[in-house]
Amino acid sequence: MSGATIQELKRAAAQAASDLVVDGMVVGLGTGSTAKFLVSIIGERVRQGLDIIAIPTSEATRIQAEAEGITVVGFSEQQRIDITIDGADEIARGRLDLIKGGGGALLREKIVAAASDRMVVISDASKLVDRLGGGFPLPVEIVPFGWEVTVNKLRDRAGKVTLRIGADGGPYVTDGGHYIVDCDFDLILDAGTLERDLATIVGVVESGLFVGIASEAFVADVDGVHRLVPG
Ligand code: A5P
Repeated sequence: MSGATIQELKRAAAQAASDLVVDGMVVGLGTGSTAKFLVSIIGERVRQGLDIIAIPTSEATRIQAEAEGITVVGFSEQQRIDITIDGADEIARGRLDLIKGGGGALLREKIVAAASDRMVVISDASKLVDRLGGGFPLPVEIVPFGWEVTVNKLRDRAGKVTLRIGADGGPYVTDGGHYIVDCDFDLILDAGTLERDLATIVGVVESGLFVGIASEAFVADVDGVHRLVPG
């Protein structure tokens, strides 16, 4: 894939992971630019006869999936997911812990991933890091009520804490009606401990740390698509 653009690498990773999807599966569909390729590839296969149902991780993905002709269901109809395929903002080599939420969908992404037998990450190789946090601030989803207080509590822990702003100039609002705060923790030495600590703050709904959730990753670089497993 020498000379491949980032978009081509994202598409190649999505293509490789999409081969894991077979008839009869319940599939969790991720959010973001890499997942968009996946939804379009799976949509093409559905139109050729692939028989699956899907649970999307965001309203944007739901809209795309339905437009592609994919049957979308909710948790009221289906609580167990065979496989979820989703992008990431950072992937830690080795354990495959993740930072997610750059696209603002971290809460639904985490609920869907946690309900899945298998969670597969797709990305270009620029997302692979030795330690999380050095290159991407950690998104944390918080309740709007008292957000100023919650942000102060996050400031006690992180270097720089920024309320995410939406296209209308006001706070960015997630599909769940919450705000997102981007927190610069610099290099995160112990993702599990940080995830648990953040969960103790009143007003925090969820963090974008995915610890021990990914079961494999398809990462594309100029040499091709590499399948990584936690180890
Ligand atoms: C969405 O909230 C995120 O977790 C995305 O999965 C992540 O930001 C990756 O997005 P891209 O595939 O657009 O890089």
